[in-house]
Amino acid sequence: METNDITQRDSFTGRIGIIAAVAGSAVGLGNIWKFPYITGVYGGGAFVLVYLICIAIIGLPVMLSEFTIGRKAQRNAVGSFKKLAPGKPWFLTGVMGIAAAFMILAFYGVVAGWTLEYLGKAVINSFAGKNPADLEGMFGGFISQVIRPIFWQFIFMGLTCWIVLAGIKGGIEKASKILMPVLLLIIVILDIRAITLPGAGEGLSFLFKPDFSKLSAEGVLSALGHAFFSLSLGMGTLITYSSYMGKNENLGSMAIQCTVADTGIALLAGVAIFPAVFAFGIEPGAGPGLVFITLPNVFQQMPGGYIFSLLFFLLLAVAALTSSISILEVVVAYFSEELKIARRNATIMATIAITIVGIPCSLSMGAMSKVQFLGKTFFDWLDYIAANILLPIGGLLIVAFVGWYLGYDKTKEEITNSGKLKAAYLPLFLFLAKFIAPLVIAIVFLHGLGLF
Ligand code: PFF
Repeated sequence: METNDITQRDSFTGRIGIIAAVAGSAVGLGNIWKFPYITGVYGGGAFVLVYLICIAIIGLPVMLSEFTIGRKAQRNAVGSFKKLAPGKPWFLTGVMGIAAAFMILAFYGVVAGWTLEYLGKAVINSFAGKNPADLEGMFGGFISQVIRPIFWQFIFMGLTCWIVLAGIKGGIEKASKILMPVLLLIIVILDIRAITLPGAGEGLSFLFKPDFSKLSAEGVLSALGHAFFSLSLGMGTLITYSSYMGKNENLGSMAIQCTVADTGIALLAGVAIFPAVFAFGIEPGAGPGLVFITLPNVFQQMPGGYIFSLLFFLLLAVAALTSSISILEVVVAYFSEELKIARRNATIMATIAITIVGIPCSLSMGAMSKVQFLGKTFFDWLDYIAANILLPIGGLLIVAFVGWYLGYDKTKEEITNSGKLKAAYLPLFLFLAKFIAPLVIAIVFLHGLGLF
């Protein structure tokens, strides 16, 4: 495989490899770190319900739209629009996606670095004998340091860069295929421990019993933004990945499988965390530290907790890695195919630039925590702008592109593999893509920003 050659494109090797890579991109810190923490911040069940509705009526059509665009064009996020709509401004959707990728990876690398620190802590058994308050102090003490979190961020970004340099088949597929099922198993074991803790019922009802009085307009926008973030949508990641897919893959069933897997893992993570949050008297709205504070308490309450804590943080780091490589790949494919920079240089340049933007994100937790604008730190702003603004706008443009610009015939051609597949869902998909998804995104978006 020639990764430096910008004219010959890499590709995935088979169906399982593709599903593993797309699911590997989708399943990550978004499911296990961000979903529980924002569910806690936005009040629980009602937020979860809105999130699930967003996944079904918006996430799924956007995912299938990205697959359609990417596989049809066989280009990167920007080049795909240029190829399918030459001379039109649609390619700006891809440019926005590149910007979102930059921002997301900047803070993602920081949180992924935390998982490495926690892996280290698990190895030396530092959770043992600590009470909930100690574990909270441990997390707060760590993220507010200057050097240590940045050190781990650098290590993680270095790993991401290294895998992307190794190319599609060698790196991305192999890692995803083996490790994702193991992660699922660990989470299920944690679920069993969590729901058998005394007082677990309160956590489950927090998670699954909707109380709409707790849900704000910003909460609804965040649920939408998180549907995009969690499914890796709205910025061309899946356009880029599907550009490496073969013409005989069933795009519709792949979209459903990946969506179900991603949503299932987020819910299972919630079930592992909220019963424990209530059992240990942790504040559900504790913020970005929720998982890092809650689960070490759970590990202490289970036989073999040492091994489980080790495996959990190892696999969380790996899940983060299979997502971060997909984000970096968006930028690298663009640099190498559109700007004609050799893949290797593009990868290294992008990694360095993104890592530098990540430094103030890391410092937002300590040294720069007082540097705020409208009550949000630099870290919060990058997350907010990328997930709640750029991804929804990107998603809207992507479904609208398929619904209105590509239209029925071309979409049918791509989705049915030139008539080889049935795709009875096509009218429903196009109805969602043309009307429902764009309308709902627009309303939630304007309402969430307070403009409507
Ligand atoms: N979906 C990833 C997660 O849930 O952790 C994060 C992510 C990957 C977001 C790729 C966006 C993206 F394009």
